[in-house]
Amino acid sequence: MGVLTKKVKGAEDILPRDSYKWQFVEDVMKQQAEVYGFKEIRTPVFEHTMLFNRGVGETTDVVQKEMYTFDTKGGESITLRPEGTAGAARAYLEHALYNDGLPVKAYYLLSCYRYEKAQAGRQREFHQFGMETYGASDAKADAEMICAANSVFERLGVKNVRLELNSIGCKTCRKDFTNALKEYFGKYTDKLCATCLSRLERNPMRILDCKSEICSAIAKDAPKVLDYICTDCSQHFERVKSFLDVAEVDYTVNPTIVRGLDYYTRTVFEFVTDTIGAQGTVCGGGRYDGLIEELGGQPTPSLGFAMGIERLLLVMQSQGIELPQPKTCDLYIAALGENAEKKAFEFVRELRDSSLIAEMDIVGRGLRAQMKYADKIKAKFSMVIGDDDINANKASVKNMSTGDKFDVPLDKGFFEAFIEKYAIMEQTGIIDSLK
Ligand code: HAM
Repeated sequence: MGVLTKKVKGAEDILPRDSYKWQFVEDVMKQQAEVYGFKEIRTPVFEHTMLFNRGVGETTDVVQKEMYTFDTKGGESITLRPEGTAGAARAYLEHALYNDGLPVKAYYLLSCYRYEKAQAGRQREFHQFGMETYGASDAKADAEMICAANSVFERLGVKNVRLELNSIGCKTCRKDFTNALKEYFGKYTDKLCATCLSRLERNPMRILDCKSEICSAIAKDAPKVLDYICTDCSQHFERVKSFLDVAEVDYTVNPTIVRGLDYYTRTVFEFVTDTIGAQGTVCGGGRYDGLIEELGGQPTPSLGFAMGIERLLLVMQSQGIELPQPKTCDLYIAALGENAEKKAFEFVRELRDSSLIAEMDIVGRGLRAQMKYADKIKAKFSMVIGDDDINANKASVKNMSTGDKFDVPLDKGFFEAFIEKYAIMEQTGIIDSLK
């Protein structure tokens, strides 16, 4: 297959036969975000490269190795977003959303781009559902954020996803931890990878999430951040846990979670599953109290999470979670001859105007082939119109699953006659909804 018919490695198509799954989970995500008081934000696919260097952090894997960065013809350095938080924070500042009253709560569904090794659950173009809150320092905000993410799993019936929680402290207590890491990793300078060697001085915490086998083996026995956090951070963490207890959300404290992006402070969390192989982190997030200031705004305690939609769908598939089947054609009208086609054209339009799915032939097939097609698209009802039917002002509608038939007139009475039987056979409230 040539490049014209082959997608780029690490990118996936979402086909018409599968898109209902995406639409279903995205609808649940939107509904949950909205009941938690979040409104949608849509930001551009690309941003100035500097935003991610600053926001995500220069010593992260994402910035050092994974960004799709290019110069435009005008000489600007642009990067396809590797995640949603930095762009949303930029928009928060650019449009002074803080004037709308704090906290500001925004959610998004977006595509992200990371030049990573493609494998099951890890793509170069992938999709995230995320939520961000700006201007909330209290532990209740952390618990609310975690509950919101958890509610999506609950609504979708996803099981065996465990919540792992940690606190990585604030700017002040981070110093002690960083020093301890420098001392520890300083003993392994002959073994660490080149990237981690450079991180040792600038940001040793990043060594903790290096994907190299040797570095991660060394990192296993490194000092744990929870042993270094200050009293304020510790009290904040205790309150987060106590509110999660109130909400009856189970968690385990995992002191090795530090997250792969630089902006995090205090609470960090991940929802992890063992059911989809190595890429088991379905959702990750935490507090980022310094990010807005880092981007030039006022100090604004903030937090959020993002969920990988591909990974979520993989988990759902691995657990055999059934999704509601997409709606199929309500009525397929097979027509033969110019007059019949015109009638069919008029009727499908009328049905569509009332939000029913109506179809007719548009490729010039014969009657038999039209009926075969009606079968293939799983039409609920079908009806054939020929010249004789027009003369008799009557045609027969067939229920495709039971074979039952009923007559409808081929004049102004068609719509009402069809709808009445349809409502009875399909047991829908269609007539009420049309009133
Ligand atoms: P992240 O952990 O880098 O966090 O990504 C969040 C989720 O996106 C991951 O848990 C995973 O499900 C999914 N994901 C990441 N990379 C890939 C990939 N290459 N292929 C498929 N799925 C992937 C963030 O992006 C933060 N912005 C989350 C956040 C929002 N923190 C605060 N607010």
